[in-house]
Amino acid sequence: MSYFRPAIDALTAYQPGEQPAAGEQVVKLNTNENPYPPSPGALAALQSVAADSLRRYPQPAADEFRASAAAVLGIDATWIVAGNGSDDLLTMLFRSVADAERPVAFPAPTYSLYRTLARMQGAPAVEVPFDDTYALPVERLAAAAAALTIVASPNSPSGNRIPNADLDELAARVSGILVIDEAYAAFATGDALELTARRENVVVLRTLSKSHSLAGLRLGFAVAPPALLSGLLKVKDSYNVDAVSARVGAAAIRDTAHTVANVERVCASRERLSAALADIGCRVWPSEANFLLVRPPDGDARNVYERLKAEGILIRYFDEPMLADRMRITVGTPAQNERLLAALRQLVSPAVESGRTPNDQ
Ligand SMILES: Cc1ncc(COP(=O)(O)O)c(C=O)c1O
Repeated sequence: MSYFRPAIDALTAYQPGEQPAAGEQVVKLNTNENPYPPSPGALAALQSVAADSLRRYPQPAADEFRASAAAVLGIDATWIVAGNGSDDLLTMLFRSVADAERPVAFPAPTYSLYRTLARMQGAPAVEVPFDDTYALPVERLAAAAAALTIVASPNSPSGNRIPNADLDELAARVSGILVIDEAYAAFATGDALELTARRENVVVLRTLSKSHSLAGLRLGFAVAPPALLSGLLKVKDSYNVDAVSARVGAAAIRDTAHTVANVERVCASRERLSAALADIGCRVWPSEANFLLVRPPDGDARNVYERLKAEGILIRYFDEPMLADRMRITVGTPAQNERLLAALRQLVSPAVESGRTPNDQ
């Protein structure tokens, strides 16, 4: 006998990347965090949090943050809902839209939380496979006729940005809501925000976790026409964004110069890292995010992951059919990237030169 819903009994919980204990010395390239500190303005805002704002409940809609985000994006604050990370917005979307009769669709492989949230709702999930180029399978996603279709752009773990023309076509053809998860959009050559103004069924998700170096704060937001956001607001936890996050996030999002400078540094490192990985014989997919999808020369990505881990370098390995020969590597600081490359050269290059696999060593 179980105390839980059958959907929960059948569920495998979402598996986040490893988070080392405080003080543990690792090169952490596994969860797409930004390697640089948050904005000094955000840190000053953190210091200035008044005791009274902790004593009281926060504003339910995180007004200070919403106003700042709206000003930066040039939209009205009524087009924004803030959340405890963009994961919270995804939860609201699934709760308000998906159930056993209202399926969900997304291309795969992608952010695996989508699958977990569908299962929590007991909603069928149509997973449409990407091909090896990770071009969006528009036809088959539209054919799924889902109540909720989700596309991450840039996608994780592939790193490619989906062209707006494909997203626009998909938005026109799906019968339900199209969510464009732009967790990594700041690192890309463009974004799809303008679709929210043209399509009544499009929601764009953003987060401060990656581009703003605030993964620990937990702050994300959704942009969509207010009519579409009204459903989300009904299922939102009353105080889903705490007073500290709203205040620090507001300062962080206003400091666009700091964000742009960090993003540029990460993108420059991404290109150097990509070229260096290709030099040692890896296949590297083109990325517009702060990580790279990489296939080691012999395809034994699990072995590389385990051996790097033994050396205190964490990357992400997904033990899944379409990803088993690949690994996702977050772009770190130049020093971190060099440590990774030095370790990889030991693991990979001798095998390339001598024709042996790393397992033979
Ligand atoms: C595609 C995608 N969406 C959303 C998230 C979650 O971001 P947040 O930290 O805002 O919950 C991630 C985190 O890794 C992600 O990769």
